[in-house]
This record gives sequence, structure tokens and C-alpha cells, in this order.
Amino acid sequence: MLAKDFIVQKSEFDLNKSGKVSAKSLSNIALVKYWGKTDPQIPTNPSISYTLTNSYTETTLSFEPKKANESEIRVFLDEVEKTDFVPKIKKFFQRIAEYAPYLEDYDFTLHTHNSFPHSSGIASSASGMSALSKCLIQMEVELGYKAKNQLQRSSFLSRLGSGSACRSVYPGLVTWGESEYIEGSSDLFAIPLEKDIHPVFKAFNDTILLIHEGTKSVSSTVGHQLMNNHPYAQLRFNEAKQNIKKLLEILKSGDLEAFGKLVEHEALSLHAMMMLSDPAFILMKPNTVSALDKLWEFRKETGLPLFFTLDAGANIHLLYPDEGKEKIEAFIQSNLLPLCQNEGIIYDRANFEVL
Ligand code: DP6
Repeated sequence: MLAKDFIVQKSEFDLNKSGKVSAKSLSNIALVKYWGKTDPQIPTNPSISYTLTNSYTETTLSFEPKKANESEIRVFLDEVEKTDFVPKIKKFFQRIAEYAPYLEDYDFTLHTHNSFPHSSGIASSASGMSALSKCLIQMEVELGYKAKNQLQRSSFLSRLGSGSACRSVYPGLVTWGESEYIEGSSDLFAIPLEKDIHPVFKAFNDTILLIHEGTKSVSSTVGHQLMNNHPYAQLRFNEAKQNIKKLLEILKSGDLEAFGKLVEHEALSLHAMMMLSDPAFILMKPNTVSALDKLWEFRKETGLPLFFTLDAGANIHLLYPDEGKEKIEAFIQSNLLPLCQNEGIIYDRANFEVL
């Protein structure tokens, strides 16, 4: 599929209709990270993520033919109007104008809710942008247009809202970005990774330590930009491409130790890139480092398969299979929970069956 295959014509839609649609979309966490992109939202390397089970955004989109010359967009988060969310949505609608030409003829009201606190530091752009894209696919149906492959179209549109959002369209393990090692992979949309997955990875725990609440000092969008002219960029992109190959082998073999080693290396590489950017920035907090120290110590002592990954922030995603779960969760409660702000923790899971 090429980008032009997603272009539709206004004549394919009944533009007199009004309506209201709703969609829910789950957050995801990358195992091999997307960090660096070119226009329009093309990743500089492929990524693989886990879609979560409990952390989601739910959005209701009401649409009616526009009343004034310019279309109006209003956004409410948990019934509170958020005018500061509007520019991001407008930018998204502009980016997808070619693929969703009906947007300019409508006024919109969005009501959105996150299962996690907005200030928790959990990236809501992945679940938020994919929930909105799913709403648009439903709106298209209401206007008389049915895409041949709705999930693919929804992933394509989501990507133009936020790169990581395109992976949230599918449950379980998902890949985005062209890779010579994955048939059917594309820079334009994500695809599910279903084949050759060892049973141990088909349901995995992801417990999120909310180390620091509040907005990040540097946004992901700026972080991506800083990968342009970054002295280590090419090295990073090449390594990530090879890590896709390695992770696929690990996912097939069920080698947990190799899984942990690779996933932690990816997380630390992401943060190393931030530290080596110009200007440099650090999103980890002292308690992030303390928690990682304790985790490594625990793993050395017990040999239990507890691993971590990080997103672009201070919070930690703890990854572990069901085996050994009781001991691991007792350790989390006693040693890691005190490092979280307001004892914030989310017990989530990644699996293939939800959505
Ligand atoms: C560190 O998808 O938030 O979470 O495309 O600019 O919206 P934009 O960036 P975003 O970047 C996420 C980066 C990451 C790694 C990942 O999810 O792969």
C-alpha cells in the first residue's frame, strides 16, 4: 500500500449527515523504540510494542455540518473544556486533510476520558490519537463510506496524529516501520505480530511505576527532532533495525533472559540519546535510577525474570511473565512502590486477546 491508496474523494461521502460515534483505544509500550522521524511521520527505524489491557482513552466524537466558514472544534476532558487541546487536533486534521477531505465541512465536539490520571505522565497521545482515528473511521461509515481494511486505515490515520498511536490499533505485539525481517511491515501503518510468538510472551505483565507526575520538560516531538544531526543517530537507527531481528528470534524462542537484556538496552539507549542530544536533556528522575538499581539487585539475588522498559519520561514499565509473579509483586510492593509519587502504580497487562 502507498500513501496515495488512502486518499478518498469528497464525493464518496454524504456531507449532509450529522452523528455521534465512540471508540476506545489502549495505550502501548515499545520494546524496540521509535525515536527519530522524517516528514510526514515516517520513522527512522522500525519499532515493536506491546499494547496494554487496562490503560486506555475513550472518545466520543459528535459531528455536524459546519455553521460558519471555518469549522469549529471543541474538546472536553472528563467534562472540562480543554481549549489547549484544540491546536493539536487541528494540526492532526490538517495533516490528514488529503485522506479525510470531509473534515473541513464539519464542526466537532470531542469528549474524552483516560483510564489513567492525565497528570500521571503516561503518554496519552498513543491511546488518544488512535481513539480519535477510530472515531473517524466510524464517522466515515455514517457518511456512507466503508474502507476495505478499517484497521489498517485507522492505523494509517493514527500515525499522522502521533507515531506511536498507529501501534495502538492492534492488541498484543505490534510492529510499525519497514523492516526487511517482517513481511508486510510498513512505514505508513502498523501491523500485528501474531506468528511465531512463544506462549510465554502471549500474556505478559506490565506494571507501571508512576515515579513522577506532571508534564515532561521536553516533549517527544522535540526529542524526535533532536535526532536530526545527532552524532549517534545513524548508529542508533542501525542498532534498532538489528534489534528487531534479535527480538523476533527471542519472541520465537521464549528466551526470557535475552528478552530482558535487549529490552532494557533499548530503554537505556533511548535515554542515552536524550542525554547526548544538543541541547541535552534527562527525563529520568532520581527515583527512576533508584528503582532500576533495586530491580537489578533483586534479579541478581533471586534470578526471577523481572525486567524494565522506559518511555520518554520518568516512569518505569516493569515487565514479567506470570511465572514467579507473586514474589515479584511482593518485591514491587515493598521496595518499589515507596519510590512512586503518591504511591502511584498501575497493574496492567499486555495480551493478544483484548480489543
Ligand atoms: C519514546 O509517538 O509520542 O514512546 O510521533 O511525535 O507523536 P510523535 O511521538 P510519539 O513518540 C513516542 C516515542 C517513544 C517510543 C515509542 O513509543 O516507540
